[in-house]
Amino acid sequence: MVNKISIVGAGRVGESTAQMLAIQKLAQQIMLIDLDEQYAKGVALDIQETSSFYQFDTQLTGASDIGQIKNSNIVIITAGIPRKPGMDRADVLAVNLKIIDEIMDGVIKHAPDAYVIVVSNPVDVLTYYANQKTGWPRHRIIGQAGILDSMRMSSFIAMETNYSVNDIQAMVLGGHGDTMVPLPRFTTISGISIEHLLDQKTIDVIIQRTRGGGAEILNLKQKSSAYDAPGAAVTIMVEAMVHNKRRLLPCISMLEGEYGQNDIAIGVPIVLGKNGIEKIIELDFSTDEQAAFNASAQAIKALIKEI
Ligand code: LAC
Repeated sequence: MVNKISIVGAGRVGESTAQMLAIQKLAQQIMLIDLDEQYAKGVALDIQETSSFYQFDTQLTGASDIGQIKNSNIVIITAGIPRKPGMDRADVLAVNLKIIDEIMDGVIKHAPDAYVIVVSNPVDVLTYYANQKTGWPRHRIIGQAGILDSMRMSSFIAMETNYSVNDIQAMVLGGHGDTMVPLPRFTTISGISIEHLLDQKTIDVIIQRTRGGGAEILNLKQKSSAYDAPGAAVTIMVEAMVHNKRRLLPCISMLEGEYGQNDIAIGVPIVLGKNGIEKIIELDFSTDEQAAFNASAQAIKALIKEI
């Protein structure tokens, strides 16, 4: 357990994340920051009132003053406008960039020693921006996308095949958008690549559904994008850091030559522990895999040019 985790943005993803962090007993204090102070207080109190059911002692607080993040071990950024049906994650860039810019001013000022997890979209570009703005070492600012996309892929494999999701380990790298790179060769059921267990047609269906996983939820819900699975994905990251698990997970990191890329933040396999990104794992890509990764990097770089 760490002393304090702050979540900036008490919307659906922030709320879901706060609830799961409390259930998992990952922090003594959870601070929810939102422009709407009353709403943040309401979310915090609502979750607090589940404490006797889930048996946690975590104290939850809501506030609008970013100064309240001080002394946080981890700051999670979920603030921003979500996309509406028909919108791309990139369509929310201009608005969310401004929001992230202000939040990072607050993080630099009030929580200069914190680790930062970026969740707001377009997450690759905003993770890049947060890294650039702070100039902090790259291991301290990490973006969430690959865990969510891999969890979706695992669910779709389980649905298509009836194998237990407990045995499925998916690996989705690249950007968190249509160009994301699900990797069947590195996706296994109890250590056996799905390429051995499923036919190509089934794999193609799973890959397509994974790429459109966020849009599928948005189209069904209409009034909101996904928040339960994103909250779970962030919780997996926090747990790996708080308990120094050194888990090998797909997360967004700045690259400095890895995978032939520079000056970009993109999803790669990392080792995640108490020091944030402790290592970047470089996979030996096939020509096709490298081409798909490069195309995804190009798409992110095109957005980075806009900022
Ligand atoms: C998703 C959005 C939150 O993938 O990016 O559901």
